[in-house]
Amino acid sequence: MADQPKTVTDILAFVEDRDIRFVRLWFTDILGQLKSFSINSAELGDAFEGGMGFDGSSITGFNAIEESDMIAMPDPSTFAVLPWRPEDKGVARIFCDVQTPNREPYEGDPRHVLRRALKRAEDMGFDTFNVGPELEYFYFRNARPEDGVPEILDEGGYFDLTTLDAGSDVRRETVLALEQLGIHVEYTHHEVGPSQHEIDMRYADALKMADDCMTYRITVKEYAMKYGWHATFMPKPLFGENGSGMHTHQSLFKNGENAFFDADDQYYLSDVGKAFIAGQLKHAREISSVFAQWVNSYKRLVPGYEAPVNLAYSSRNRSASIRIPMYSASPKAKRLEARFPDPACNPYLAFAAMLMAGLDGIQRKLDPGDPLDKDLYSLSPEELKGVPTVPGSLDGALAALERDHEFLLKGDVFTKDVIDEWISYKRAKEIDPIRLRPTPLEMQMYYDI
Ligand SMILES: Nc1ncnc2c1ncn2[C@@H]1O[C@H](COP(=O)(O)OP(=O)(O)OP(=O)(O)O)[C@@H](O)[C@H]1O
Ligand SMILES: [Mg+2]
Repeated sequence: MADQPKTVTDILAFVEDRDIRFVRLWFTDILGQLKSFSINSAELGDAFEGGMGFDGSSITGFNAIEESDMIAMPDPSTFAVLPWRPEDKGVARIFCDVQTPNREPYEGDPRHVLRRALKRAEDMGFDTFNVGPELEYFYFRNARPEDGVPEILDEGGYFDLTTLDAGSDVRRETVLALEQLGIHVEYTHHEVGPSQHEIDMRYADALKMADDCMTYRITVKEYAMKYGWHATFMPKPLFGENGSGMHTHQSLFKNGENAFFDADDQYYLSDVGKAFIAGQLKHAREISSVFAQWVNSYKRLVPGYEAPVNLAYSSRNRSASIRIPMYSASPKAKRLEARFPDPACNPYLAFAAMLMAGLDGIQRKLDPGDPLDKDLYSLSPEELKGVPTVPGSLDGALAALERDHEFLLKGDVFTKDVIDEWISYKRAKEIDPIRLRPTPLEMQMYYDI
């Protein structure tokens, strides 16, 4: 893993030394789309001092035109050289916190929402929220799918290799690039779906991991493009095939110890860990429009296809939406895996919402009840009676959030404005445009009526 300078002084010296000419300032809009503007490296010293101004009114979810002046304040701990740009007169990137002109954190900046959630965890005595997300994605041959059906590269399945895995070379280059960008990759493999892949990053504290998810997505896309292919994190691009999920492994540490670990428990899981599960199961419906934010996300979250729709927990059991991996009894590795998020979420908001749900369970000492150690996919609707499910649509998810979001407002982590903006934007710009247009299948089914 390449060592990147982390302090302002070291970065300025490094940039001089390596003749880095351009620095891209990165941040995200409310949807988690990466935004970037490039500055000449000669401006970097000033940027570290006072930030760089930009027009916030063109950023989704940010302030309206009358309050459009915004400041991008670079976070030196995120400096890295971009391996896919020329080495000579190189290009680097830095993630930024967005501020208002009077240098206050901007409440609508997703990175700040996560910072506030981590502050709340700190106020409750936890020093680290560790997150290990498994982002799945597809490589397709065509950048624009003719007649809406993308062209797959191979018929491979889970862990397939040889000719069945057309992606091994591009995956290899992508992993090497991620390591140059300071991301530790544990392993990579072909996933269940045709042309579907996964690269597993080692867990890290939530803020670094949210930045790493953004870096992961753009790096995967850059190298796919280099091979003339198209990589997508769309949750459900292929009818009848598995969708792409983002299982999210989580743990809370206190004074350097894993607060989820209890050597005397049959699952080595502490009461704090159980209360965290209870909080996430209790609020999963309310936060589902954040961890599964698109209309298309709910074409993945349907019964069947290994999709985690049943809001129950269990050890080892991949049919429950919260799983307690039981590979080892090591305290460091004790974690919970939430299986419902998808890789097209805004990682800053998703990690913040999932943390707030878990912390609410801890604060109210909620009890998750008994684990459901059965294959939930094989249970009949009668047997599943009483087991809540994730919402069946984005519309349903937004309605759940509208009904109850008190737990997200604690510590001013999510503000009422951010939640209202989220709901109104999603309804106006996504649900209505899709609801009002006949789909290609409807044309096929009804055109001859
Ligand atoms: N204490 C911890 N807290 C948070 N994440 C952790 C912790 N320990 C390990 N992890 C992370 O959990 C993830 C586990 O990935 P692993 O591939 O084992 O998951 P899995 O769910 O068993 O696999 P799959 O879904 O492919 O069947 C990795 O990102 C790893 O770094
Ligand atoms: Mg998993």
